[in-house]
Amino acid sequence: MTILHIDSSTQGQASVTRELTAYAVGKMAGEKVDRLDLVADPIPHLVGRPEANAFVAQLKAADTIVIGAPTYNFSVPSQLKAWFDRVAVAGETFRYTEKGPEGLLRDKRVIVMIASGGVYEEGSSFEHNQSYVRAIFQFMGLEPEFVIANGVAMSEERRAEAIAEAKAKIDRIAASREFA
Ligand SMILES: Cc1cc2nc3c(=O)[nH]c(=O)nc-3n(C[C@H](O)[C@H](O)[C@H](O)COP(=O)(O)O)c2cc1C
Repeated sequence: MTILHIDSSTQGQASVTRELTAYAVGKMAGEKVDRLDLVADPIPHLVGRPEANAFVAQLKAADTIVIGAPTYNFSVPSQLKAWFDRVAVAGETFRYTEKGPEGLLRDKRVIVMIASGGVYEEGSSFEHNQSYVRAIFQFMGLEPEFVIANGVAMSEERRAEAIAEAKAKIDRIAASREFA
């Protein structure tokens, strides 16, 4: 089994999502891990048409994808958006048909760790992280699962509680079925 471990937080050691993705990947010890740190190794903005590339091949090769998706200015960090711009490629991860677009990816687990300073309901007018990440993975044929630590800027207590709840959810995910 291959795990693709992706981080996009700019907050280094203080990052909530980096703590959560590391915790989740730690639960899958022994598996092959492909690592993408989109802050240490940023992907340049896409110029021109997206076409098959090494990021698409890496995504296709993964069985489980664990992604840290902090909320920055109501959406994902631009570092993560740059990755989506590389992997959403017509003919590779989705295709257009007469009935509309069709996702081409199958049989992968996608676990997305979201952290936000405030609290947003999915689909509210300020929420463009969870709904966006769900939409783009569905567009490519996958149904992501979410682990959410929200309200982390509200107080130290709230932050600690949100992280503990998120880790408990990761434990339940790990216990309920195989990660693959
Ligand atoms: C550049 C920046 C923009 C942010 N924008 C928002 C925001 O729009 N809404 C929100 O609730 N929190 C916002 N926050 C707070 C982060 O969501 C919070 O710090 C969270 O822990 C980020 O995940 P990380 O710790 O893994 O980086 C922002 C933080 C930064 C650094």
